[in-house]
Amino acid sequence: MSYALILLVIVGVVLVGFLFWRGGAPQEDVPLKHRVSPRRRRSKSQKELPPEIRNNKLYYREIFRKRSSCKIYSLEPYPLKTSRDLTEEQKEFLYQELKRFPLPSGAAMQLSEMLRDPYVDSRKVAALASTDPVVSARLLAVVNSAYFRPRSGKKVSSIHRAILLLGFNQVRNLLFQLVLEHAVSKHSPLSKEEIQKIWLHSASVSVAAGEIAKRYKEHPGLVLTAGLMHDIGKFFLPYFQNQEEVGSFLAHEMGDDLPPLIQEENLTGFNHAVIGSVLCYIWKLPHEISQAVVFHHFGNPERLFQLEVKMRRVITTVAVADYICHLLGYAGEEPYLYEIPKQALEACGFPAYPEFLITPELEKEVEKMVNLLKEYSL
Ligand SMILES: [Fe+2]
Ligand SMILES: [Fe+2]
Repeated sequence: MSYALILLVIVGVVLVGFLFWRGGAPQEDVPLKHRVSPRRRRSKSQKELPPEIRNNKLYYREIFRKRSSCKIYSLEPYPLKTSRDLTEEQKEFLYQELKRFPLPSGAAMQLSEMLRDPYVDSRKVAALASTDPVVSARLLAVVNSAYFRPRSGKKVSSIHRAILLLGFNQVRNLLFQLVLEHAVSKHSPLSKEEIQKIWLHSASVSVAAGEIAKRYKEHPGLVLTAGLMHDIGKFFLPYFQNQEEVGSFLAHEMGDDLPPLIQEENLTGFNHAVIGSVLCYIWKLPHEISQAVVFHHFGNPERLFQLEVKMRRVITTVAVADYICHLLGYAGEEPYLYEIPKQALEACGFPAYPEFLITPELEKEVEKMVNLLKEYSL
C-alpha cells in the first residue's frame, strides 16, 4: 500500500514537472480552442526573428554577454526634468548663463545649413567650402584618410571631388562637428581628455543613429545631427555646480547607487539633456533637434507620447543609438545602460531588445568614425 502511494507521488511529481516544462500555467485569457502550446509559441517567435539574427547567434550571444557586464539603470522611478518643468526664473537663469556661449558663425555653419537641401548644387557647396581654410583642410584630410581614400589610391586635392566622394550627409555631419568642436573647446571648462571622451561618444551615437535610420529606410540627416548634439549639455554642466538658484530643484536624495543622471540633477539642479535643449534654442537649431536632445533619456515618457509619431521616432532612434554605443564601449570606462521603455521601441517597430539593432556593419561604421576623429580632429 505504502509502495503504491510512493509510486503515485512520484508519478504526480513527474507529471507536474512535465507540465511546467511544457510552459507552466495555461493561458487563462485565451479561449481554449486558440491556446497554443508554449513550445509552439516559442518556435513561432523564433521564426519571426529576422534571418540575420537567427544566423548570427554567436554574435548576439557575445553582445548579450557584454550587456551582462554593464550596470543597468531604470529611470522609471525618477521623472527627469525637461525644459517645461523649469520655472520662469530657472529658464531665464539657464538662458542667461548659456547665452555667453554662441555658436561660431562661419563657412562651416553656412555650409551645414546649405546641405540641408539634398538637391543643392555641389559646385556651390565646394565654392563656399574653399573660402574657409579650416573647412577645406578637414574635408581633404577626411577624404584622403584610410577610411575614405578612393580605390585608385590617388590623393584627392579638389574640394568638389571630396564632397562628391563623401556624400552630402557625411560632409554636413563633418562640418557641423567642426562647428561644435570650436564652440566647445572655446567655452567648456572640462579638461581636454574629458572633452575628447564626450566627442568620441557623440560621434559614435551619430553614426549608429544614421545606420539605424538607413536600415528602416529613413533619411538619416536629422538623427545624424541629433546624435551629435544629444550630450552637448555635458560640456557645460560644471558651470551649474553649487549654484544657489538651483537649490529648489533638488528633489531626490543623494546616493551612490542613483543613476548618474539623477546625481547630475542633484549636483547641478539641471541635467545635461535640459541644458542641451536650451543650447539648441540659443543656437537656433531645428525644433526636432532640441526635442531629441531633451528627451534622449526618456525623461518623461507620458509627455513623450504626446509628441507626433515622426518626432518620437527621431528621439527613440537617438536613444537606442546611445544605448548601443554605451554597450559597445564608446562611452567611457564604466559601462552603464539606461533601460529604454518597451512601449517606445514597440511604437517604432524596433525589436523588443535594442541589442538586436546592432549589426557587424553598424559596429564597423561606428569604429570607422571614431578612428577618424581620433586621427584628425582632437
Ligand atoms: Fe545623455
Ligand atoms: Fe550619450
